[in-house]
Amino acid sequence: MPRYPDSFIDLIRERVDLLELVSRQVTLKRQGSSWLGLCPFHNEKTPSFNVRPGKGFKCFGCGVGGDAFEFLMKLKGFGFNEAVEELAGMVGIPLPRIEQEDPQAIRQREARNRLLDLLSATREFYREQLAAPVGEQARHYLKERGVKPETIQRFGLGYAPLGWTHLLDRFGGGEAAGELLESAGLVTSKAPGEKRYDRFRNRLMFPIQDIKGRCVAFGGRILGPGEPKYLNSPETELFQKGKLLYGLEAAQEAMQKAGSALVVEGYMDRLALVEHGLENVVATLGTAMTHEHVRLLWQRTRKIIFCFDGDAAGEKAAWRGLEMVLDGLEADRHVIFLFFPSGEDPDQVVRREGAKGFEERIKRGITPMEFMIRKLGVGLDPQTPEGRAGLVHRARPLLEKVKDPLLRELYTETLSQRVHIPMHYARVETLRRPEEKSFRSQGSSGAKVPYKPYNVTSKVKQELRQPANKVASRNHEQALLALLLRLPRLVKEREEELSRLELEDRQLGGMLAELIEMGHEYVEAPASWPKKPFANREMSRMADAILASEEMTLELAEQEFDGCLISIHIQALRKERMRLMRQMDLEGDDDARLFKRCCALKLEEERVLGDKVAQGI
Ligand code: UTP
Ligand code: MN
Repeated sequence: MPRYPDSFIDLIRERVDLLELVSRQVTLKRQGSSWLGLCPFHNEKTPSFNVRPGKGFKCFGCGVGGDAFEFLMKLKGFGFNEAVEELAGMVGIPLPRIEQEDPQAIRQREARNRLLDLLSATREFYREQLAAPVGEQARHYLKERGVKPETIQRFGLGYAPLGWTHLLDRFGGGEAAGELLESAGLVTSKAPGEKRYDRFRNRLMFPIQDIKGRCVAFGGRILGPGEPKYLNSPETELFQKGKLLYGLEAAQEAMQKAGSALVVEGYMDRLALVEHGLENVVATLGTAMTHEHVRLLWQRTRKIIFCFDGDAAGEKAAWRGLEMVLDGLEADRHVIFLFFPSGEDPDQVVRREGAKGFEERIKRGITPMEFMIRKLGVGLDPQTPEGRAGLVHRARPLLEKVKDPLLRELYTETLSQRVHIPMHYARVETLRRPEEKSFRSQGSSGAKVPYKPYNVTSKVKQELRQPANKVASRNHEQALLALLLRLPRLVKEREEELSRLELEDRQLGGMLAELIEMGHEYVEAPASWPKKPFANREMSRMADAILASEEMTLELAEQEFDGCLISIHIQALRKERMRLMRQMDLEGDDDARLFKRCCALKLEEERVLGDKVAQGI
């Protein structure tokens, strides 16, 4: 029977919300960590049909149970493939073409299974070593840090002994074994083709599990001071830091029970919190939060509590967390930020203050709005009009990320109350409308702006309002996306430029951000695989529409890329200039600072346009 690739099925399993699926058929009531209702598969008066999100369903009356696929198969009499197709449609993932027994897919599956087997055998090896005489120093280290033996067991901690060829010796020194070890990230070499050696030596080993609880990577801590403190497996097919939260599989039940997820930065933070009974915790492993991380959490909880270290890096990580959660916030989704005393992390705090103390701190955590105002207000005097206006301006791009209209309105209200201005001025939309008006009143163009900082006449202002030159009215942002969807390698090649780009269209901006995040994955997909879909169904739909509507050959696409970037750059400069002009209108005519800035922007716009002409774009 033809079959879809496992990775595709896993993707669907991950995206489908079982609770939502079942709720279409069955009225469910929450009971502890699961949901109860009347079984759709047999006749009953008292509910015995049980759904555990992320786990599966089970009827204690008639005994049927399974996952989302099985639910549909039972309910509608579907075959497995039909269930897959139905669910793929539901979550907006395009179907890959399935060929009869795709040999490539089979090979991939087998290769992946070999890697998984090797990784779990390696975990066992490290565990044995920790218990063996050679693990003495590592055991001592753990004891010093107060880690209990049960915790060592529970986290599957191990020890990678000193030496260069333990794994090669253990798993056979041949070329095939070496290659496999290398693709699992367990051995490495100075240069391709040179002698392979163990990546992890004399380190305390933390196995890292994926969402199914399978060991996919390791983190190794040095025993004592030294650099690097932690050595992690490189990114492999099975291990992508941007998509994996350490401990998610083990924590998800506790998350449901607690109704919240704690997010920490490090291995030891997670370990210490779990040791103190706070089990609803995942770690980002020192990597920046991604939209994917946030998505994984929202699937499992309605409250995210960021507990990042009390240092500059922790604060930066928290801010990144804020940026990643804003667009998905909605009614009854909560985010809390915890800040620890300078230089401390959750591990130290929970060991000192216990679970009780930690929970007290959670109660004192701050909301996204509070965090935003606190951080953006740095360097601004809240007593002066300029300081207050400054805060509103700084906050606006963030409020703009909040998609939920009601929530955005309420956040805006909080902000406006904080700076004591009428709500109207703080609204994101307030600045949009007049801008569009001024675009419409475009007149003649091309004039150079005299540099005249003082005594701004209305004539000069008039001129400043004009775009430097007409840019073709084509939608460059959409064109850019069309190019990138066709030539995804450009995303990688021009990543830096692209990630600096701010698109006006929020949806397109979101797509671009996601493409960048998907990075090589989007690019390196085998041709038979549909390009990796966007997390958001609307985006996937738009991508299809864009691809269908923008006709171009690949060569042309490549040529057009720079033109697109320049046009978007020009539009951004123009938008900023319009914004400053409006601010000048609001604040009176005499602000030389704003005027200078406008002139500079206009000159920059002309320079960019000049380049564009020079490059023949
Ligand atoms: P921290 O430096 O906060 O480490 O880095 P930690 O978790 O508190 O570790 P201990 O308590 O000193 O043992 C946070 C996380 O960043 C990653 C690790 O995942 C670590 O847990 N990290 C840190 C690295 O990957 N490499 C490093 O060299 C340092
Ligand atoms: Mn620490």
